[in-house]
Amino acid sequence: MKPYIVAIFNQKGGISKTTTSTNLAVCLAAFGKSVVVIDLDSQGDSTKSLGIDPKIKQGIFDLFIGHVPVHEVMVPTVFEGVRVLPSTYSLAGIEIKLSELQNSQRTLSTILAQTELDCDYVVIDCPPALGILPINALASAHAVIIPVTATPYANDGLLRTLPSIKYVQEGLNKNLLLQGVLFTINDKTKTTRKINELIRSRLGGTVYRTEIPRDNTVIEAATARLPVCVYGPKSAAAQAHLDFTEEFIDRHVSIAAKVGETIAGRLPREQAIERLFRWQSQNAVSIGPDGDERLRQKRDQLDRMLYGDRSRAERWHLALVHFFIDNRLSLAAFLLVMLIGLIALLGAGFEGARRLAELLGFG
Ligand SMILES: Nc1ncnc2c1ncn2[C@@H]1O[C@H](COP(=O)(O)OP(=O)(O)OP(=O)(O)O)[C@@H](O)[C@H]1O
Ligand SMILES: [Mg+2]
Repeated sequence: MKPYIVAIFNQKGGISKTTTSTNLAVCLAAFGKSVVVIDLDSQGDSTKSLGIDPKIKQGIFDLFIGHVPVHEVMVPTVFEGVRVLPSTYSLAGIEIKLSELQNSQRTLSTILAQTELDCDYVVIDCPPALGILPINALASAHAVIIPVTATPYANDGLLRTLPSIKYVQEGLNKNLLLQGVLFTINDKTKTTRKINELIRSRLGGTVYRTEIPRDNTVIEAATARLPVCVYGPKSAAAQAHLDFTEEFIDRHVSIAAKVGETIAGRLPREQAIERLFRWQSQNAVSIGPDGDERLRQKRDQLDRMLYGDRSRAERWHLALVHFFIDNRLSLAAFLLVMLIGLIALLGAGFEGARRLAELLGFG
């Protein structure tokens, strides 16, 4: 069986590539599919999130450079149906090593073509930036998914990522399909909605219907080293990841149908949720005493990525300015109304203030 290989890629950092990869993998498994996750990031976040320690002996580095066979590097996870080709910290030095090799952009596709992985899906978690590793991922994938966070500070990644995908399609991998753009860490502000609408109007049906909401349970799950779908299957983010996985499978079914292939059906959603709850009870984790501080730090880090390196007061000021722009209000008109109100209040003097207080029930 030849698996459907999908790369999760955006050149921007911190916009939920790893969260999308690990949750897509566990949800696919919950729906009865078998999955191999390839962690191409030396940070090893998806390796850790799937319960594997990146200090293990062998990983992607050894596969690429040491010519160790895939089955020696592959690790099972506690989530039935999910295996990992893990990242180890040595992966950080791979760029230099690979640049010494010939045809280094196709190392992964050669390995995957020569190996019987015996699974339905391969999900590749890419590092941020367009280095040799993401190029390898895109060169070997059937499809790519771009997670996008629609804030003025985070969505520029899409503008840099689309040309890179085109570059790979024109040279290395003509069959690479942009399966879709997924909105992640969606904070439902008016500005976010506007950016979403703009991207949807430009890219049409390429954008998935499902949007993953911003949900602190995801950060708690990452701290507990679990995908949010296992850590909190009822949470808003977990439910959205389940919706997304269904949409992803449906798109794959119609892509396959166009070339006359049939994809086996998936388990019903209730059964998928039952599996997630089973994994949750088998892997119950408490976050520990320093957990609150770590959660706060991660939330602040996320805020900085979404809103830039600004203090809380600056963000309030920015939000006010956006409010005026969004509502087409003129600052001058607003200040004038405030001034008239103030003069009227002063004009009325203490007597006016007393009457107002009475009117409001404070008298
Ligand atoms: N829907 C969400 N709601 C709230 N926080 C989220 C959500 N998705 C991801 N996060 C948090 O945002 C941070 C970045 O997520 P993640 O590590 O998945 O991004 P990434 O694109 O893989 O980052 P990198 O480029 O560093 O590899 C993490 O702290 C994660 O827990
Ligand atoms: Mg990541």
